[in-house]
Amino acid sequence: MPQFASRLGRAKPSAIMQVAEKAKRLKAEGRDIISFSIGVPNFLPGEHVYAAAREALERDSGQYGSNRGSDALLDAFLGHIGEIGLTGYTRANCATGIGAKHVIYNLCEALLDEGDTIAFPVPYWTSYVDIAEILNAKIDLLPCPAEQDYKLTPSQLDAALAKKPRVFLFNNPSNPTGMVYSKDEISALADVIAKYPDTWVITDDIYNRMVFDGVGYHNFVHARPGLRDRVIFIDSLSKTYGMPGWRVGFMAGPESVAKAVVTMNSNHITNLPEVTTAAAVAALAGPQDVPRAKCAEFAAKRDQVMAVFDAIPGVVCPRPQGAFYVFPDISAYFGKTHGPSGLKVDDDVGFCSALLEAKGVACVPGSAFGEPRALRISYTCPTPQLAPGLERIREFFAELA
Ligand SMILES: Cc1ncc(COP(=O)(O)O)c(C=O)c1O
Repeated sequence: MPQFASRLGRAKPSAIMQVAEKAKRLKAEGRDIISFSIGVPNFLPGEHVYAAAREALERDSGQYGSNRGSDALLDAFLGHIGEIGLTGYTRANCATGIGAKHVIYNLCEALLDEGDTIAFPVPYWTSYVDIAEILNAKIDLLPCPAEQDYKLTPSQLDAALAKKPRVFLFNNPSNPTGMVYSKDEISALADVIAKYPDTWVITDDIYNRMVFDGVGYHNFVHARPGLRDRVIFIDSLSKTYGMPGWRVGFMAGPESVAKAVVTMNSNHITNLPEVTTAAAVAALAGPQDVPRAKCAEFAAKRDQVMAVFDAIPGVVCPRPQGAFYVFPDISAYFGKTHGPSGLKVDDDVGFCSALLEAKGVACVPGSAFGEPRALRISYTCPTPQLAPGLERIREFFAELA
């Protein structure tokens, strides 16, 4: 049999999907499963989005489109990021892709040669490692444990950038922790970045509209406008608009980088589909009441989740201020046994597996995100499921001895 390329041996299926699959299987077997595993927003966009998609279908040009994205889509994106203070960009600074994941993949392919270093904080979004590994880049992991609120410090960043990685990849608000960097924290990190001109900065900020408690969303370019020739901002429709399956992602950054992504698109995908593009324009430029209402709902759900974890002795759970995740450090419970089921909890994977078996609650082990002391709760399930799911988790902890 002919051989596969060696890069395929480095690509791993997502650990998150593995948990979701197990939960799905148990559900199919008739078990009552509450899923806090997969990071989907679990709502649908407003009717105006569907109306725009239907209308585009009626007007179908039947043609290929722009490798960068249609002018209407780029203009809608520019308007959208202008609202969060990212102004002064033009269409030439932007590019689109089949979701943020695809844009990040394209960027990594465009910026990293084999053996180049990409540095990023831990916990990280799983695909960062997978993409870097497929591309045979070296990974410099910057550990940010619960004790430091899962946030990167300026001195850690300084030490990492002094080693001149080709790319520093940042994520704010964070998946899996939900943590959000304050204006001062971003400013302090931006000061460090300014000292190291040889490193590109990708800031994956797709949860920028899901920020709670009035902390606001802050970006390195806000803090230091001079960084815009090296900072690449990533956005997506997936979470903000409840449109993960529509697959629309964006970047705004230096013209040369946008052009590189356009070149990648011309070879990978050619263009975003016309109907999807019309829906995306409607989402970005149309009424914003659905995303606003969902952000408020997620803030309230965050409170509900935190009320439970704050009351569990030994759990360290920094309070998230964005996205829709909570990431408790549960390592104080490793080595215990779940009384009623007799299941042993040796580590995060054992914990999540026992929780799923014993209580029918699916969470993702922290090791999927490089932090094996924790687990991730994604709390976008239908509201009536949240309280019972949390109660089962509370009981499970209480039954560990
Ligand atoms: C931090 C982060 N970046 C990127 C993505 C990918 O988003 P998209 O659906 O636009 O590909 C996700 C999805 O979970 C994410 O959590």
